[in-house]
Amino acid sequence: MILDNQNMALFVSDDELKEAQGKAVAAMQSLVDDYNNNGDWLGWMSIAADIRPQIDDIEKCASKLRKDSDAVIICGIGGSYLGAYAVITALQGYFDKNKPEILFAGNSLSQDYLIDLCDHVEGRKYSVVCISKSGTTMETAIAFRVLRNKMEDELGMEWAKEHIICITDAEKGALHDIAAMNGYATFEVPNNIGGRYSVLSAVGLLPIAIAGFDIRQLVAGAFDFYRPHRGVEQCEQILNYASMRCLMSQKGKKVENFVCFEPKLKGFSEWWKQLFGESEGKDGKGLFPTSVTYTTDLHSLGQYVQQGDRILFETVLSVEKGNREIEVPKTKDNIDNMNRYSWYTVGYINSVAEKGTVMAHVAGGVPTMRVVIPKINEYHLGQLIYFFELACAVSCKMTGVNPFDQPGVEDYKANIRKFLK
Ligand code: PA5
Repeated sequence: MILDNQNMALFVSDDELKEAQGKAVAAMQSLVDDYNNNGDWLGWMSIAADIRPQIDDIEKCASKLRKDSDAVIICGIGGSYLGAYAVITALQGYFDKNKPEILFAGNSLSQDYLIDLCDHVEGRKYSVVCISKSGTTMETAIAFRVLRNKMEDELGMEWAKEHIICITDAEKGALHDIAAMNGYATFEVPNNIGGRYSVLSAVGLLPIAIAGFDIRQLVAGAFDFYRPHRGVEQCEQILNYASMRCLMSQKGKKVENFVCFEPKLKGFSEWWKQLFGESEGKDGKGLFPTSVTYTTDLHSLGQYVQQGDRILFETVLSVEKGNREIEVPKTKDNIDNMNRYSWYTVGYINSVAEKGTVMAHVAGGVPTMRVVIPKINEYHLGQLIYFFELACAVSCKMTGVNPFDQPGVEDYKANIRKFLK
């Protein structure tokens, strides 16, 4: 994985960069010091090592659910599902008909979705993995009630006991108590890891293993990329990314547009947005994280990016090689004049589109960085997860906000409670 920030030199001077890098190093050092002093919410920094003893149990549980179930429903919201969603959707084929089918629930209050989901699993053998640190998150709790009732009625209490898994706090909370009372198997959300930093704990690893992907490789990617006991200097790319983000904010580029040229990375963009949005957006500060999938969105938002208000910079998640290749075929009539591109692979044309787009956006005043991975697999996704988590925490330290709380999320919840009284 590399960070390519050569285009940024057009927007940022060497002196500005040096100054920001100094701040980033100090922020990183303070994070490492906090970690070494057992600071709160920093368990994710060493999770790639700490999770290893649990991997056998996670894989054992995953393989039982895979064997028994036609479908597995992952019930959770925010950090409790987005990491798994990001990795599973990135690794799955676009039209895979997997067994078990992986379904998601409890991440909205859509009544239609819940009813359609119940209809979809009707008559099939299904399992439910409910993930909630607090156990009282409304979206998740309501969906879990509906699914539990349905499962008990349809498949019986014995099946439910063996095919409902709860991932929650090890000692307390509503979901912990429900699991204890009903004898459901549990995995823990470590108490020093918040939701959006939890993908490399059982929160993400169990659903990813159930989907049939190699969680050891995912963890290995994160572990190799950075280990807390290595020095701050090992994190050069992370510090450069955080420095550039900080400079962009100072220059009025308040929107970071996360760009993918591979639609199966849309889920990863959602995870990235939550990580940065919930961590950074507080105290009247923070970049607004948004995302697009090109070339699709070049035909909708591309116009704004090229010529609209100059408030944007872009971070492109670039993949060097796809899984398979298809060439543009030649046709006899050549009415669309595409024969001149025949024998190019579609993947090559997509990579040229990326190059052309970056060049056009930079020329149009949109600073652009690229985070490049050789291909989409478990190992490189693990690296990316760790890269962005650490960069996010460093960015927050640089602007002086707490990366690990989300006080603003409570306000809408209080209003819901008030109206439902
Ligand atoms: O990142 C976070 O902390 C949040 O997005 C939570 O994961 C989300 O609100 C769900 O909370 P809980 O796991 O308590 O249901």
